[in-house]
Amino acid sequence: MDFIDLPPLLSAQGVVQLPGSKSISNRVLLLSALAGGVTEVRDLLESDDTARMLDALRALGIAVESLGDRVYRIHGVAGNFPCKRAELFLGNAGTAFRSLTAALALAGGHYTLTGVARMHERPIGDLVDALRELGADIRYLENEGFPPLEIRPSTIRSRGHVQVRGDLSSQFLTGLLMALPLTGTETTIEVVGDLISKPYIEITLATMARFGVEVVREGWQRFIVPAGDTYRSPGVVYVEADASSASYFLALGAIGGGPLRVAGVGCDSVQGDVRFADALAQMGARIETGSNWIAAAAPPSGKLRGISLDCKHIPDAAMTLATTALFAEGPTTLTHIASWRVKETDRIEAMATELRKLGAEVQTGADFIRVIPRKGDLRSPDAGIDTYDDHRIAMCFSLVSLASTLRINDPACVSKTFPEYFAAFAKVTRPVPVIAIDGPSASGKGTVAARVAAALGWHYLDSGALYRLTALACRRAGVSWRDEARVAAIAAGLDVVFGENSIRLSGDEVNDAIRDEEISSGASQVAALPTVRNALLFRQRLFRQAPGLVADGRDMASVVFPDAQTKVFLTASVEVRAERRHKQLIEKGIAASILPLLQDLRERDQRDSRRSVAPLQQSEDAMLLDTTDLTIEQAVDQVLLWSRKGS
Ligand code: DC
Repeated sequence: MDFIDLPPLLSAQGVVQLPGSKSISNRVLLLSALAGGVTEVRDLLESDDTARMLDALRALGIAVESLGDRVYRIHGVAGNFPCKRAELFLGNAGTAFRSLTAALALAGGHYTLTGVARMHERPIGDLVDALRELGADIRYLENEGFPPLEIRPSTIRSRGHVQVRGDLSSQFLTGLLMALPLTGTETTIEVVGDLISKPYIEITLATMARFGVEVVREGWQRFIVPAGDTYRSPGVVYVEADASSASYFLALGAIGGGPLRVAGVGCDSVQGDVRFADALAQMGARIETGSNWIAAAAPPSGKLRGISLDCKHIPDAAMTLATTALFAEGPTTLTHIASWRVKETDRIEAMATELRKLGAEVQTGADFIRVIPRKGDLRSPDAGIDTYDDHRIAMCFSLVSLASTLRINDPACVSKTFPEYFAAFAKVTRPVPVIAIDGPSASGKGTVAARVAAALGWHYLDSGALYRLTALACRRAGVSWRDEARVAAIAAGLDVVFGENSIRLSGDEVNDAIRDEEISSGASQVAALPTVRNALLFRQRLFRQAPGLVADGRDMASVVFPDAQTKVFLTASVEVRAERRHKQLIEKGIAASILPLLQDLRERDQRDSRRSVAPLQQSEDAMLLDTTDLTIEQAVDQVLLWSRKGS
């Protein structure tokens, strides 16, 4: 899928069962493999990053059984991988790459570790330096300091002391900590520089302890890995839900009313990202927590406020604050986020670029981002939000749908940590409702749709008008209606303002001009061009705004708003339609007679139902409304009745 168009939301509330934590899953998998005994891992995250780790372990000769329902059985090898030669492809999974590098460097064997292009741009030199200090033989296969790597067998001599930098990525320290028990000797790790992402180190230490190795920590500068401790299987391990994934739903509750409760992580969690809830509370959100759940709701005033926050302790969840900031009063400044620059993409630059597309003012520096929300409505770009193959960008921008329809490009990137994200999102959000009305020419659908919209106080989209406007704009620009590429470009750039009873094209009133016979014929020609229909798709979706939309036209129920709550196919016998059209023309003072109109409608019906692009068809889930014997008022009442039932 190239993109997903998220509908605008009225509110968000409910309960989300989150998938397992990526950080815990990949640590538990590696330690289960390194341990003596069999470990049953329950609630494992099933995603790209854990799939890379599982593939790697299998390639190293570890027996992995998948028992279904997120349960895996790992047969540990007590630190001695059966395969002494292997080529491992680790995608863009930083947690797998760093920790396997360390474990394999100390395990003896001949291995190559590669990843996707971005993985090869993510630094690893600080970890390699530390491992070389211990005697490991590691070579850079491309650029000094970066993957891919070759590891050769070597003699490991822990001299009891090793240094590692801690201010760029905490994963270097994590890798080293998890691998050191393989040496069998007591080793003190000294962290050089100010350690970032300390909560991730806590996860590492807690997971190691679960497998029987207790590291002695002296502040955040020295870690002593004891001699003789080896990993032992704890039998069964449950993986906590992912606290970083929780952040999107908590923010959703804080902006979209709530309460929204995430299940599987709470105040007893070992994951630092649960502190994201404190940041939301500072912004004014109402937060409640239990031992294994957290709930967020909007502030009593309804409005969040911007904050300044040192995000060293919640580097991943902090991205969610950057999009939450769009909904707050005043600027939000997030500092100490230099590690963003070496993640799946340069997240500081990427977030700034995408936030600016929405109309926010954004300032950035080496290690901070400041978001100044736009006054008034935000702009939702036709070209969509780009996601840079970064799951978190896709997920944190989904919040914007609380303000507007939003297109997110390459949404499948969420599979890195949360393959079911958009389905989970849909379950706890209430989109702006749509009534889609379709039907043949002169069935009265336009009149009925406009009156239903007025009765409900909802917005109205006359989609046919967009095709008519495109035809007129082409005529004015001297572009042939058959020139698909140029017609589509004109459709994409239409400068239209819809008023109460007026339509302005580039400033000119064109309500009558788009209804004449010649433009009607042009409209039906341009409407048959697939590229033109695509060009108008997002623009039509932007009409969906609170409190609701009534949309009339050919493919409203099938293509443009397939999730419409109420779908109506409005029709009448061809004779009655001819009479109605005749009456309309006479009222406008246009001479007309019934027979040619009847003939014309019959031909049009045939053409419309046979054409290959968006043929006129009653969509399967649409209610049929035959108005042959109904007044307009009766037809309107029937649609209103259905819409009340549908909501
Ligand atoms: O509903 P109308 O007559 O104003 O529509 C003008 C033309 O555009 C007509 O040929 C049908 C076509 N159309 C379409 O193909 N898809 C829509 N959603 C709406 C109209």
